[in-house]
Amino acid sequence: MRMLAHWLVDAVIAHWTEVGRGPAILTGEREDLLRRLGGPVPQEPGDPLVEMQVLVDVALAHMQHGDHPRYFARVPGPSSFAGMLGDWLASGFNAIVSSWAGGSGPATVELVVLEWLRALLGMPDGTEGVLTSGGSLSNLLGLAAARNERGPGIAYLSDQTHASVARGLRATGFPADGVRVLRSDPAFRLDPELVARAVVADRDSGRHPGFVVATAGSVNCGAVDPLDELADLCAREDLWLHVDGAYGAPAALCDAGRRALTGIERADSLVLDPHKWLFQPYDVGCLLVRRPGVLEHGFSMTPEYLVDATGDASEVDFRDRTLELTRRARALKLWLTFRTYGSARISAGIARGIALAEHAQHVLERDPRWRVVTPAQLGIVTFTAVGATPGHHAAAAAALSRDGYAAVTSTSLRDQSVLRLCTINPLTTEDEITATLESLARLVRDRAHGRTSGP
Ligand SMILES: Cc1ncc(COP(=O)(O)O)c(C=O)c1O
Repeated sequence: MRMLAHWLVDAVIAHWTEVGRGPAILTGEREDLLRRLGGPVPQEPGDPLVEMQVLVDVALAHMQHGDHPRYFARVPGPSSFAGMLGDWLASGFNAIVSSWAGGSGPATVELVVLEWLRALLGMPDGTEGVLTSGGSLSNLLGLAAARNERGPGIAYLSDQTHASVARGLRATGFPADGVRVLRSDPAFRLDPELVARAVVADRDSGRHPGFVVATAGSVNCGAVDPLDELADLCAREDLWLHVDGAYGAPAALCDAGRRALTGIERADSLVLDPHKWLFQPYDVGCLLVRRPGVLEHGFSMTPEYLVDATGDASEVDFRDRTLELTRRARALKLWLTFRTYGSARISAGIARGIALAEHAQHVLERDPRWRVVTPAQLGIVTFTAVGATPGHHAAAAAALSRDGYAAVTSTSLRDQSVLRLCTINPLTTEDEITATLESLARLVRDRAHGRTSGP
């Protein structure tokens, strides 16, 4: 066991030291990957060393490396070393956080971590939470708990709200005509005035407004909805405020992010993903709910076979705050990360991601081949190539990924096609941003001139 584990440690350390020298993303062909990884059910024992090497060489080589310093696509996953060690410990000890009786130690770690996150985000004492697999499940749980608490009602969101919210609403039984997707303002934010008008219109037609979903860092361009104004509106109209800060909310740990996120602490339910901008390996998301008891009210279950595993009022059975019964101990990695680096260093890492996007914006503004579409916001900047068609953007992004030098996203902001960098990896250098933009500019130009060479 020791020999195999040491081999594994060496393989992982090699990944950590070499990740930036390999491709930022590598996508395989299904047939080829199946040929190398598949086959009939193995009947006879194999050599774990050989098989681990296959996993490293084939499975783990063919993926997006969210921890690569030039991985700027979607939302990177620049996980920290301490986070990884915490995750290894959780797996190595097969830790479970379901009932208090069966996992009081790891459950306490989860309570501690949730309390740290609550305090860092400025939510009030008494706020409760749960760790999840990520933003999608946190959004679903938050909205399901809200509806369980408040009864059926209309939900208001914007055309920039993450798709997992609409999916979560659908999965929790919100009818299609109970979801109002409002046009975002010119800065791609949910407009409180539009929400207020829609609420009045719904009330006038005998409907029951219930929930506002605000975004604290849109995945498209980093836009933050006017959280304070939306919280005022919700207080006035007695609506539940759900804030999706899956990628953006951790920015509240640093000054620049905190300024952009004013009002986030007023959410009734708040989603953030430590596996995005709190430097955690996949997976760990988080849902915080202001009012104590709401999660248990929505999700508790005590069948006869769990009576022995049901704690008293001072104990927390985390299965009762979520839709998972068996749960891995996701808190250990966060706990170890905070204890190892301290929040000041984590906050500096987040601030660096914000500054890197501002650097990218300056580079783009100085270059006549580019036009900035949305300025750097919470580590995201979007831009177009002057004279390019939407197809050129997508083709250039795809060519860059195929080459592996870097990965960026092509998306659209309403009707406008854009390229997008998300710069939340603090290990990225300014030179790497400049070089990525240079490669992209060449690729767009080649596509515009009908050439399809590599970067
Ligand atoms: C704003 C926002 N909400 C929700 C999600 C979904 O999170 P996950 O992929 O962890 O389920 C994302 C993912 O990027 C996001 O950016």
